[in-house]
Amino acid sequence: MVKKQLCCFQYYALYGLVLAVLVSSKHHGNSANDLVDIINKNRTAQKLPQLSSSPGLGCIALQYAKECMGNCSSNSSVNCHPSEDDFTEVFAPNCGVELPTFGTISGYILGCQPKYLEPLEAFSNALVHDKRTLSLMKNKTHTEVGVGIIKAHKHKGPYLWCVLFSSSQRNTTFLLDDLGEGIKQKKGCYSGTSFPCSRAHNDKGLLSNKICILVLLCVIYFQQFLSKLL
Ligand SMILES: *[C@@H]1O[C@H](CO)[C@@H](O)[C@H](O)[C@H]1NC(C)=O
Ligand SMILES: *[C@@H]1O[C@H](CO)[C@@H](O)[C@H](O)[C@H]1NC(C)=O
Ligand SMILES: *[C@@H]1O[C@H](CO)[C@@H](O)[C@H](O)[C@H]1NC(C)=O
Ligand SMILES: *[C@@H]1O[C@H](CO)[C@@H](O)[C@H](O)[C@H]1NC(C)=O
Ligand SMILES: *[C@@H]1O[C@H](CO)[C@@H](O)[C@H](O)[C@H]1NC(C)=O
Repeated sequence: MVKKQLCCFQYYALYGLVLAVLVSSKHHGNSANDLVDIINKNRTAQKLPQLSSSPGLGCIALQYAKECMGNCSSNSSVNCHPSEDDFTEVFAPNCGVELPTFGTISGYILGCQPKYLEPLEAFSNALVHDKRTLSLMKNKTHTEVGVGIIKAHKHKGPYLWCVLFSSSQRNTTFLLDDLGEGIKQKKGCYSGTSFPCSRAHNDKGLLSNKICILVLLCVIYFQQFLSKLL
């Protein structure tokens, strides 16, 4: 009788574990790409042309967010104005963007939040939060878009989101060297690539990993406890 219950308990624990792993793996995509999709869906719904996803522009957006990590204010706005020279002298070289292909940046949006937000929440809460950002999203001049996301500290936020728009001719600007590979980034993630955002990027991913380990330990202890009783 007890043996039968033990076996059931193990099945439930295993089932829970599998679910937890499935849920946590769902978060390991690239949320910068998700944001580009959300931006394009929003534009399409308003009959505006879609924007091409430019990896080079995405990587520059990540550098922008990185430079502004310390400027996240308590009301979630970011007061940060990198100099123009930074774009060509720091951001582009850090990404491996070929300088002659550096195009025209036609708008930027920076947003910051103390906690991680799912892409849809980030879009409406961190990025499109006032008239300026709403009109930028709707601007017909843009042709390309790039999104960068970074977490300021290894174990805690704030998180920064940066969207850059370009009005250059599609697919001919912000080209990455090394046959489009560019320079691999150690922190954060950006749109236009299939590289996922790092695991540490997401609080929930970490949390469910911890829960997994906890459940596993409980199963082992409970099993030992029961086998001593029998
Ligand atoms: C956020 O704070 C900054 C300065 O701390 C201020 O200039 C800005 O107006 C504030 N923004 C909002 C939306 O309250
Ligand atoms: C970040 O904030 C500091 C302090 O307000 C300011 O001196 C600095 O210029 C800001 N950085 C950028 C890139 O704007
Ligand atoms: C769209 O962006 C372009 C380039 O930044 C700007 O000149 C233009 O005024 C914007 N249009 C609207 C309707 O805001
Ligand atoms: C586009 O996004 C803005 C900002 O979140 C929202 O107010 C608007 O309703 C959206 N438009 C459509 C058609 O989804
Ligand atoms: C730019 O590239 C994208 C994807 O590679 C492609 O779908 C699109 O048609 C290209 N646009 C132009 C104008 O070449």
